[in-house]
Amino acid sequence: MTTGSASAKVILFGEHAVVYGRPAVAVPVTELQARAGVDEGPDGAGCTLVAADLGRRFNLGQAPSDDPLAHTVRLTLAKLGVRQEPDLTITLGSDVPIASGLGSGAAVSTAIVRALAKHWGRLLDPADVSALVYETERLHHGTSSGIDNTVIAYGQPVFFVRGRPPEPLQVAAGFWLIISDTGIASPTRLVVDDVRRGWESDRAHYEALFDQMGEISKAARASIEAGEVTRLGPLMVRNQHLLAAIGVSSPLLERLCLVARQAGAGGAKLCGAGRGGNLIALVTPETAQQVTSALESAGAVRTTLTHVSQVIE
Ligand code: PMV
Repeated sequence: MTTGSASAKVILFGEHAVVYGRPAVAVPVTELQARAGVDEGPDGAGCTLVAADLGRRFNLGQAPSDDPLAHTVRLTLAKLGVRQEPDLTITLGSDVPIASGLGSGAAVSTAIVRALAKHWGRLLDPADVSALVYETERLHHGTSSGIDNTVIAYGQPVFFVRGRPPEPLQVAAGFWLIISDTGIASPTRLVVDDVRRGWESDRAHYEALFDQMGEISKAARASIEAGEVTRLGPLMVRNQHLLAAIGVSSPLLERLCLVARQAGAGGAKLCGAGRGGNLIALVTPETAQQVTSALESAGAVRTTLTHVSQVIE
């Protein structure tokens, strides 16, 4: 079997504003992984995809054209110059929760691309992997900024502006985040569409809010590159206020952010599309346990502690 894997991701700053051309900061979450394994299948069997977590097993030839898993496989085979459907079994697995702002779709796609490239003895560079995964991301949410596929395919912290090559971030001093799940699935596309409606009804107001989010991303980048980690907390709090102002927070997200801060987090904010999904809280090894306990008592369904550093996959 040849295997490929990919990390989840979180957006630290700048979600939504990134769709409108402002910078965002995102990092891989190596503690949560998607995996793909490729085995030779019997002659003439074609390509079978098995996603036990999703209760799915299907043949590539029979999958609809907009099936995201099949789409990734087809695009990757085309990129590798494989013209005829190969006899393969592709087995997928993932610890990344779905529809919760952690990039589950992009992580599974990236794992597939990496496993297939390895099977054919090819090394695709991160820009190629990212471009392939972006094509599938567009199926999930039409106006995707490309941040998920970028941070996951590059496997390192990035400063990202839509349409430009990502700028890798130099993490001068590692820091700890708690990622905490509200347990409410929130499909990105619906939230992004709502924000667009808001923007269409009052462009000047939304543009001003997006400008402020973009400035926060720039300040966060400077703090991360200078190793001034404690500055990130207040930036998170400001970013959260702005996200609430564009209507993507929720009473539960607000409550959990407050609980995290009261328990000692330096700052907290929703991450990803919002309305549900996950929040992040800036912690230290000393505060991590009390913040985790407080979040879980207040209703968070899952918490993951992640260390942000100069990871390169
Ligand atoms: O919910 P996620 O993690 O897929 O993040 C969406 C990020 C948005 O900025 C809201 C949309 C996008 O395409 O960048």
